[in-house]
Amino acid sequence: MEVRWIVFEPLRLGPPHKVFGLILTVLLAVWSAQALEMSVGKIPFLEAVNGSTVMLPCTYSSCIGIKNLYFNWQFNDNGTMQKVCESTIASEGVEPQVSIYRERVEFVGKNHDNNISILLWNITFEDGGQYTCFGRNPKEKDKNHSAIFNLIVVDELRVVDNTLTIIIASAVGGGIALLMGFMLLKNFTLFVLAKLEEKNKECLVTSSGIDNTENGLSGSKADSKPTPKKK
Ligand SMILES: *[C@@H]1O[C@H](CO)[C@@H](O)[C@H](O)[C@H]1NC(C)=O
Ligand SMILES: *[C@@H]1O[C@H](CO)[C@@H](O)[C@H](O)[C@H]1NC(C)=O
Ligand SMILES: *[C@@H]1O[C@H](CO)[C@@H](O)[C@H](O)[C@H]1NC(C)=O
Ligand SMILES: *[C@@H]1O[C@H](CO)[C@@H](O)[C@H](O)[C@H]1NC(C)=O
Ligand SMILES: *[C@@H]1O[C@H](CO)[C@@H](O)[C@H](O)[C@H]1NC(C)=O
Repeated sequence: MEVRWIVFEPLRLGPPHKVFGLILTVLLAVWSAQALEMSVGKIPFLEAVNGSTVMLPCTYSSCIGIKNLYFNWQFNDNGTMQKVCESTIASEGVEPQVSIYRERVEFVGKNHDNNISILLWNITFEDGGQYTCFGRNPKEKDKNHSAIFNLIVVDELRVVDNTLTIIIASAVGGGIALLMGFMLLKNFTLFVLAKLEEKNKECLVTSSGIDNTENGLSGSKADSKPTPKKK
């Protein structure tokens, strides 16, 4: 009796498009809440002078939580992926023992705040290229995700040139971007805010629910149904 009330009340009160929107949002939130996500930050590239020391940033996030999360860094060396380092993180906050396969590499994230960044000491031109931060979470049926960071190694001379180019390009592009920005800003902000809010809410609900009933019906159903359809 009580369950029926809770389920049908909002359906009766809301207009159809609102109900549909709500269902869609919840589905989206449930789907996104599960996913392991690796992130290299908002700016996925770095231009650095040869000889300097740079950090390749990467963090992971998972609403469900992690257990024995496997991660590695790979360098795309002219088409072949070279492992830079790898390790397994037993659980959140535990500092992993990282195996390093490339010279001048140091693991600096130490898993503080899900941070698995590495440091590249005294970079050479050969160090320039694509670095992939990869993660696989057994707690999410081995879901994997990766993010790519680009390292561009330059001479001091070229840095000035590129800065000028960027300034000119920004001035031209800025005018167009400003116009488009005004048109999109309102809708985009609202959309992002709504999505973030929903995601955070769902994240708390999902993780606490799963933690309590790890093999519960609701958890495994939500796990297995949406994922194959979306991918
Ligand atoms: C960077 O490369 C240039 C050109 O190869 C070289 O002259 C310079 O000494 C290098 N700088 C460092 C710090 O290695
Ligand atoms: C690898 O690099 C060499 C020379 O540096 C180039 O000739 C070759 O085409 C490259 N191979 C790939 C797969 O990019
Ligand atoms: C980086 O270069 C400096 C100076 O050349 C050297 O003292 C240091 O040992 C180098 N670091 C690594 C990790 O190679
Ligand atoms: C990750 O750790 C490094 C080294 O402690 C730090 O410099 C960097 O800001 C951290 N990144 C994030 C996203 O917390
Ligand atoms: C990542 O997951 C996809 C399916 O979700 C799978 O096809 C792929 O082999 C996985 N990659 C690795 C390196 O585990």
